[in-house]
Amino acid sequence: MSAATPSTNPSPSIVVTGDRTVGPLHLGHYAGSLQTRLALQETHNPFILLADTQALSDHQGDYRKVRQAVIDVALDYLAVGIDPQKSTILIQSMVPELAELSFYLMNLVSVARLERNPTLKSELRAKGANSEISAGFLSYPVSQAADITALRGTLIPVGEDQLPMIEQTNEIVRRFNRMVGEPILNECEALLSNTTRLPGLDGKGKMSRALGNHLALSASADEITQAVNKMYTDAQHLTITSPGQIEGNVVFAFLDAFDPDTQHVAALKAQYAHGGLADSVIKARLNDVLQALITPIRERRAEYAQDTDAVLSMLLCGSAKARQTAALTLHKVKTAMGMYYF
Ligand code: TRP
Repeated sequence: MSAATPSTNPSPSIVVTGDRTVGPLHLGHYAGSLQTRLALQETHNPFILLADTQALSDHQGDYRKVRQAVIDVALDYLAVGIDPQKSTILIQSMVPELAELSFYLMNLVSVARLERNPTLKSELRAKGANSEISAGFLSYPVSQAADITALRGTLIPVGEDQLPMIEQTNEIVRRFNRMVGEPILNECEALLSNTTRLPGLDGKGKMSRALGNHLALSASADEITQAVNKMYTDAQHLTITSPGQIEGNVVFAFLDAFDPDTQHVAALKAQYAHGGLADSVIKARLNDVLQALITPIRERRAEYAQDTDAVLSMLLCGSAKARQTAALTLHKVKTAMGMYYF
């Protein structure tokens, strides 16, 4: 991970990131974004958005699920060690300035440009040709640009799939600043985490809730063991003595991501590739590693879950704090456009 400060912006980076609230987080989030956030909160007081408004852009009918996921994701954050003293966790819908800013930014993007956003395109493809696309869904990249710019974000830790959102945010920022002739909004840059993306338990593509190949951060001991036992290794590794493939082997991908003893993993790989190491041995190791990682997370989560009122009041505080920043940005935007009439 590089903690580079954008060259155009000499002041300390302002970190803004977030998750759509569609369900509890999984190990893919831990490998990709949560570990990066844990490091960043020691130096940057990041804003972390529970993006419920964005989740509703394609789950409007599932508003109950989105609501529940706000609590679930907040519990996951706390359980992995996101500390509300060091990170500002906010609920997107509790900062109405984000929605108001989106409305102005929406006029700076053409529908054709939105339709060209590669991430949006692949999401549309996944929905199928005949599904109805709401105006809200088509414009969620604009709402994301509003999240980032309202909170004055300059450094945005995201996965690769979000790079088009950052690019589009910067286009909007430049357009707005050019229109009003003042640098009111900040440009931002992405911070990609250096963990290779975690494959799904089935080895097909990346781990994702939508594909159902995920392991929840709150998985029980049995669920962990079952997931490891079902994992794909190397279909050609028929006997213990035959050489095994490391490349594409899900168990090794997980060991690379989570086993703190990298030397031991290297030794296991060498032996497996050479022949003479049973799948059951590497699976037993992975089971130990994942139990050691997830057990304390699950236990802390259960403790926080006993007092959801405390969690909600933490979110209220974070949202109020974020609101101050967002209100100031919105004030600058409206002032620049002469929108104060009295
Ligand atoms: N689009 C992000 C996701 O799919 C969530 C998100 C919403 C976000 N607003 C953001 C990420 C602002 C970074 C910055 O998870």
